[in-house]
Amino acid sequence: MSKRIAIIGGGNLGSAIAEGLLKSKFNKASEIIVTRRNTSGLNSLKAKGLAITNDNNEAVKKSDVIILAVKPFQVAEVLTGIKHDLTTDKIFISVVTGVLINDLQDIIKRELPLFRAMPNTAIAIQQSMTCICSRNAEERNVKYVNELFKNLGEVVTIDEKLMEAATVLGACGIAYALRFIRANIQGGIEIGFDAATASVIAAQTIKGSAELLIQTGNHPEQEIDKVTTPKGCTIAGLNEMEHRGFSSSLIRGVVASYKKIAKD
Ligand SMILES: NC(=O)c1ccc[n+]([C@@H]2O[C@H](COP(=O)([O-])OP(=O)(O)OC[C@H]3O[C@@H](n4cnc5c(N)ncnc54)[C@H](OP(=O)(O)O)[C@@H]3O)[C@@H](O)[C@H]2O)c1
Repeated sequence: MSKRIAIIGGGNLGSAIAEGLLKSKFNKASEIIVTRRNTSGLNSLKAKGLAITNDNNEAVKKSDVIILAVKPFQVAEVLTGIKHDLTTDKIFISVVTGVLINDLQDIIKRELPLFRAMPNTAIAIQQSMTCICSRNAEERNVKYVNELFKNLGEVVTIDEKLMEAATVLGACGIAYALRFIRANIQGGIEIGFDAATASVIAAQTIKGSAELLIQTGNHPEQEIDKVTTPKGCTIAGLNEMEHRGFSSSLIRGVVASYKKIAKD
């Protein structure tokens, strides 16, 4: 039988994880329980057979795996409320941004196996990029947590000190990529497409570009060389973008996000 999973905080990310777990069939719906104070926001999950409750203690007691997905400022209160139900046989995973394993341990006041995972919202469609770190975890639990998130996309194990960088590149990265796609759509409309057609072309082209790198392992510039005919339209467009600061503005954006979040 699979482990029973409690998601504490069924907001954007918590609900997306629940949706992804359901789609992946990693768990049966009846093995997942999702909490939030206002449970009416969980009715669509309930309709799919998941258990919902506003009682965090009940959810933790009934589960083998606890995924904490509340906002950072809510962690102390929520964790204090459930810490006595967190027995050492349970796997605890925090997906909360910026709350360190040390911070979690200070609240729990016991040495427990603790995981931090940084997924992104594509987890709802099993296409997340999830970075994971852990402390005091047995090998079989590390394997289990990797397996869980593998069912929801790609997984990389990192040192905790890179968690903020992972948040920027992986979680904020979704917004950067979507803004890039949106700009392509706007350009596409200006050169003649209706919005719906431009959206399909822009999104599928970005998906194909990413798959080219993922499936071949090639560097982006190798693939760019294949598209840039000498004196052609691609290199003319690319160079104009670079004159306007394209790569530079992306790098500056990534670093600005990092400066906002980083503790070091
Ligand atoms: N969104 C992302 O892309 C992303 C990516 C990686 C990590 N994260 C991290 O994931 C966490 C959640 O982000 P989010 O965007 O999903 O925020 P969110 O939509 O605000 O979700 C937080 C949820 O926690 C619930 N909650 C608050 N207090 C609670 C309590 N006492 N007991 C049970 N549930 C409670 C809230 O519902 P009620 O108010 O109804 O209780 C809300 O649904 C954050 O720490 C964020 O840093 C987010």
